[in-house]
Amino acid sequence: MNSASQRISCGTATPSLLASTVTLAGWVHRRRDHGGIIFLDLRDHEGITQILIAPTQVEVFAQAESLRSEDVVRIVGRVQARPAGTENERLSTGAVEIAAEQLTVLTRSATPPFPVANDDDIDETVRLRYRYLDLRRTRMQRNLRTRHRVIKVLRDYFDQHGFIEVETPLLIKSTPEGARDYLVPSRIHQGEFYALPQSPQLLKQILMIGGIGRYMQIARCLRDEDPRADRQPEFTQIDVEMSFIEQEDVMQIMEGAVVTAWRDALGIDIPTPLPRLSYEEAMRRFGNDKPDLRFGLELVDVAELFADSSFTTFRDVAAQGAATRIIALRYPGAASLSRRDFDALQERAKEFGAKGLAYITIGPEIRGPIAKFLSEQERTGILAVTGAEDGDAILFIADRKNAASDVAGRLRNEIGERLGLRDPARFAFCWVVGFPLFEHDPETGAITFAHHPFTAPLPGQEAHFDSDPLSLRAQHYDLVLNGFELGSGSIRNHDAAFQRKIFHHLGLDDTEIENRFGFFTTALTYGAPPHGGMALGIDRVVMLACGETSIRDVIAFPKNQNARDVMMDAPSPIPAANLKELHITISEVQPDQK
Ligand code: AMO
Ligand code: AMP
Repeated sequence: MNSASQRISCGTATPSLLASTVTLAGWVHRRRDHGGIIFLDLRDHEGITQILIAPTQVEVFAQAESLRSEDVVRIVGRVQARPAGTENERLSTGAVEIAAEQLTVLTRSATPPFPVANDDDIDETVRLRYRYLDLRRTRMQRNLRTRHRVIKVLRDYFDQHGFIEVETPLLIKSTPEGARDYLVPSRIHQGEFYALPQSPQLLKQILMIGGIGRYMQIARCLRDEDPRADRQPEFTQIDVEMSFIEQEDVMQIMEGAVVTAWRDALGIDIPTPLPRLSYEEAMRRFGNDKPDLRFGLELVDVAELFADSSFTTFRDVAAQGAATRIIALRYPGAASLSRRDFDALQERAKEFGAKGLAYITIGPEIRGPIAKFLSEQERTGILAVTGAEDGDAILFIADRKNAASDVAGRLRNEIGERLGLRDPARFAFCWVVGFPLFEHDPETGAITFAHHPFTAPLPGQEAHFDSDPLSLRAQHYDLVLNGFELGSGSIRNHDAAFQRKIFHHLGLDDTEIENRFGFFTTALTYGAPPHGGMALGIDRVVMLACGETSIRDVIAFPKNQNARDVMMDAPSPIPAANLKELHITISEVQPDQK
């Protein structure tokens, strides 16, 4: 290397360096041959600099002719101003170029399976298989940098508020969060398994019993559940726990955390206080416990209007009272949709679990399959409560309360999407509070926890504890952004006897409690402080901050939709000798989906 030259990055070639000799290295982003001159765009993690190779540099020129995309080179050259009119304002280095005097090829690249130099849509499997190439592209570079900044700001915020970061182990005993555990066989203890943490929940509570007071951790969590766009088997939480506090204290701290992250990492001011909704209100108005508040189109209850209707389907549902809902949903501008469009919408509603989808269109006349059943009074009533205007359609969903709310909530999001009301550059946060403590497990019908079994009920419900457990509300709060659950937390049961009572409600007997949670219920008996906390899903925070629609795009090495790492090819079979050592025999296996 030329010792007189200054080493710079590809993002820092600016006019202040004019006429100096510099050394820079990077990847060949593009090579352009222009009438006997070769231009190279050289890229590193900081930016792109234009290199000019004149034919007078005979040796350098010959080498440059052989360069191909993604070769790695080092250049020594002089910084000069680009000729007037050829500056590139979109590049931080766009005012200058480097006239190459030396060129060293550091590594050759095989032909990439997709262009690195642009962010064109590429099949995700290919992106994930060659993730190192995908990581070089602008989008992933930007997303991972945003991720770093968000985490850094959050870490500093919690530090400034008196929290300390404590690492908790990965090889532990099951901590239920509603998913299946990933299990790790022990070689030393034959036939026994560690569970990987679904979250550090019990350990952070034990840290409170251990007098830590204010804990936080950038925590890896592992859950064996089917991946989705916002769900990975392995993900990261900003996990928080505090002693001697109430729900309001945790909410204040966490609200401050996200507002600070948006301000300091993204430069966006979020107005506070963030709106709050009760669970009931969220379900009633938006059909969803994670409502997207970027748009209105609220659900309207219209059962009363159908009490004496000649449309018997709705009259029968209305007659069942509070256990059911008939929901009207305004679909602005949809009167012009064709019959076929509405049929497709009905199919969509059925995918969401609807029994049917009735609709009317509003114009000089009210039309649609159920229009003929509607009395004048029903028509006036529907228009008045929905605020529908000429050109709109109104959709109706009648069902049991939860099912109707759920379907209508999904349709509302679908309509919001179709009408372009879900602008990724807008951030509509809200809190949802007052969740049920217990719910029915949809598969078994048994009572299960709504959040996790360590959540405390709201005070003052003792009278109903045994007689009507499903009516109990919890000191459980969720932070929601643009229709995604960003985070979830609760005040915990710090009284050992009460925690046992909750376990009993969940169907655990004393032996099971002892075997699974004995270490924890014992810890609770040694002076557990009142405590509570919350965890934010970092991947979702960063996904929304980056305007992405999948958390895979903000994780360096995510699993694909089949929970596979397609770059490393994991999971994969292991040699028989390893299995033997672990005392594991594999019985039947189904053919695998890659
Ligand atoms: P919870 O299970 O609600 O609560 O998780 C908290 C937040 O973590 C994120 N999250 C996920 N992100 C990506 N992939 C997943 N599979 C996934 N699962 C959850 C979500 C979610 O809101 N221990 C409690 C917190 C507490 O009570 O303090 C817990 O883990 O953003
Ligand atoms: P039917 O009387 O079953 O022919 O239904 C007439 C219209 O009402 C059709 O468009 C159905 O899709 C719709 N419909 C039937 N059941 C429901 C329901 N539970 N909720 C909403 N619409 C329904």
